[in-house]
Amino acid sequence: MEKLKPLEKLKLGVLISGRGSNLQALIDATADPAFPAEIVLVISNKADAGGLLRAQAAGVATKVIPHKEFSSREAFDTALDDTLRAAGVGLVCLAGFMRLLSAKFATSWHDRLINIHPSLLPSFKGLDSHGQALTAGVRFSGCTVHFVRPEMDAGPIILQAAVPVHDGDDEDILAARILEAEHRCYPLAIRLIAEGRVTIEGEIVRIANGKFADSPLLNPIG
Ligand code: GRF
Repeated sequence: MEKLKPLEKLKLGVLISGRGSNLQALIDATADPAFPAEIVLVISNKADAGGLLRAQAAGVATKVIPHKEFSSREAFDTALDDTLRAAGVGLVCLAGFMRLLSAKFATSWHDRLINIHPSLLPSFKGLDSHGQALTAGVRFSGCTVHFVRPEMDAGPIILQAAVPVHDGDDEDILAARILEAEHRCYPLAIRLIAEGRVTIEGEIVRIANGKFADSPLLNPIG
């Protein structure tokens, strides 16, 4: 019998600046031969980002592009863009990448650039989202995977996980609880995109054959 040609996987470029625990979740997910995407390149703007070691340990190609070596944000973004295109990247995944990207970059990767943010957007954009959640006294926070638009932490929402906030939480405790959810959400969002199930209608994401949660979440429960 004729051997079936394996379907081509979506090629991911992952941008990091730090420890790379979300990158690790993607490395672990893509290790499954059935996962419909593969990481072709990890780029860090910092040479000492812990995530680079995670990528190297998994045999994933890495590149450091230090933003400090560029005279402008645009010049840095052009170098990023060239490197991603040369690697054949089809989807850029921001995973703790601590540089704002120019509007030109966001536009040229329109609908092919996603981010994970540790809050239920549009609440608590920007830095210190955990502190913002605690200050607001919300009973749930969480994380959001979204397509990137030029405005910070904005763009069509692909999926979210809600995480309870407990009395007595501090930023570290809340961040750790949300991070666990992030590690489930990012691979799932990428799988949905790679399976061709994600479309954007007027800046609202629709998921073909999505299985949606159907019960309300309460917190506290008594
Ligand atoms: C995560 O909380 C992510 O949501 C935010 O930056 C953090 C990165 O953590 N954008 P890590 O480097 O993936 O561990």
